[in-house]
Amino acid sequence: MSKYILAIESSCDDTSAAVLYGEKVLSNVVSSQAVHEKYGGVVPELASRAHEQNIIPVVDTALKNADISLDKIDAIAYTRGPGLLGSLLVGSSFVKGLSLSRNIPMIEVNHLHGHIFAHFLRDNENADMPQPKFPFLNLLISGGHTQIIQVNDYLDFTILGGTIDDAAGEAFDKCAKVMDLGYPGGPIIDKIAKNGNINAFTFAKPKIDNLDFSFSGLKTSFLYLIRDHLKENPNFIEENTADLAASLQASIINILNDKLIKASKQTGIKNIAASGGVSANSYLKKVLTETAQKRQWNLHIPPLRYTTDNAAMIGVVGYYKYLKNEFAGHTISPRARMKIL
Ligand code: KG4
Ligand code: ZN
Repeated sequence: MSKYILAIESSCDDTSAAVLYGEKVLSNVVSSQAVHEKYGGVVPELASRAHEQNIIPVVDTALKNADISLDKIDAIAYTRGPGLLGSLLVGSSFVKGLSLSRNIPMIEVNHLHGHIFAHFLRDNENADMPQPKFPFLNLLISGGHTQIIQVNDYLDFTILGGTIDDAAGEAFDKCAKVMDLGYPGGPIIDKIAKNGNINAFTFAKPKIDNLDFSFSGLKTSFLYLIRDHLKENPNFIEENTADLAASLQASIINILNDKLIKASKQTGIKNIAASGGVSANSYLKKVLTETAQKRQWNLHIPPLRYTTDNAAMIGVVGYYKYLKNEFAGHTISPRARMKIL
C-alpha cells in the first residue's frame, strides 16, 4: 500500500508544493518569483517575503489539483537545506505548524537528494519511461552544485567528484550577466545559442585530472575575450550574442560530457543520469544522447518540469524515507549548508 505525501520546497526562489502517491505525482505546483529579475540574481530578503505570500496558496492549489484533503496525507516532506536560510525557514516553519496542528508526521529532505531522485517521479505523461537501475552515475548540475554521484541504492550514494569553484549553472548565469541578458541566464543562453555557431569562439579548458570540475577559468576567459573585443568594437556583444552563447554553452557542456565519460570508464557503470536545473539544457541533451548511443549508456534525464526546483522531487525522497521510518522531530532546524553525505 503506497503513501500520500505532501511535499514543500522553498530553498531558493521557487515556492513549490506537490502531492504524491508513492512515486506518482498527483500535483506539482511551482510559483517562480519574478521579483528578482530586475536585480540580476536572487535577493534573499525578497525571496523570504515572496515565500511567505506564496506558500499557503501554493499548498492549497497542490491539494486541490490532487483532489485530496489534508486528512488523507500520511506525511509532509520538506526541504531542510541547503539553500537560503530565510527561504528555508518559511517552508520549515509552515510545515512544523501544519504537522503539529494536524498531527501529520514530517520528513526532512536534503534538496540535493531531491534532484538525484527526480528520475523516479512518474506522472500520466512519463509513466512508461524506464527508471534508472542501481548503481547509476548521476551528474547533478544546478545553480549551486556540480557533482558526479554514484547512486548505489535509494538513499545510498558516493560522491565521485565536484566543483572546486563555480557550479555549472553559475557559469551560465554569470556569463549571461556579462552580456546583460537577464536572470537566470541558463535558459536564456540555451534559447539564443540555437542561432549561433559553437565554433565561433574558444575559451580556456580546465586542466583537472580527477573527476572534479572547475568553471572559473572558463568564466575569466569569457570575460577577457569580451573585454578585448569591446575595445575595438563597442557593439561586439550585440553583433555576436548568438555565437558567444553557442560557443560558451558548448564549452560548458563539453566539460560535463568529458567528465561523465571519464567517470563511466573509471567505474564501469553505463547507467548514466543527469539532473538539476542545467539538465534542462537542450544542447546537453543532444550531446549526452550522442555519447549514450556511442557508448551504449542507458541515459536518464528527467522531464523539464522535474529538472529545475520543484516539490515533487522532495516528495519522492520523502516517500523513500517514510518506508525506512525516517521521520523528523519538531525541534529540527533548517540548514543553509548541508552536505549530501
Ligand atoms: O536546480 P535549479 O533550479 O536550482 C538550484 O538548485 O540551483 O537550477 C537553477 C540553475 C540556474 O543556474 C539556471 O540558469 C540553470 O539551472 N538552468 C539552465 C537551464 N535551465 C535552468 N542552464 C542551462 N540551460 C537551461 N536550459
Ligand atoms: Zn535545485
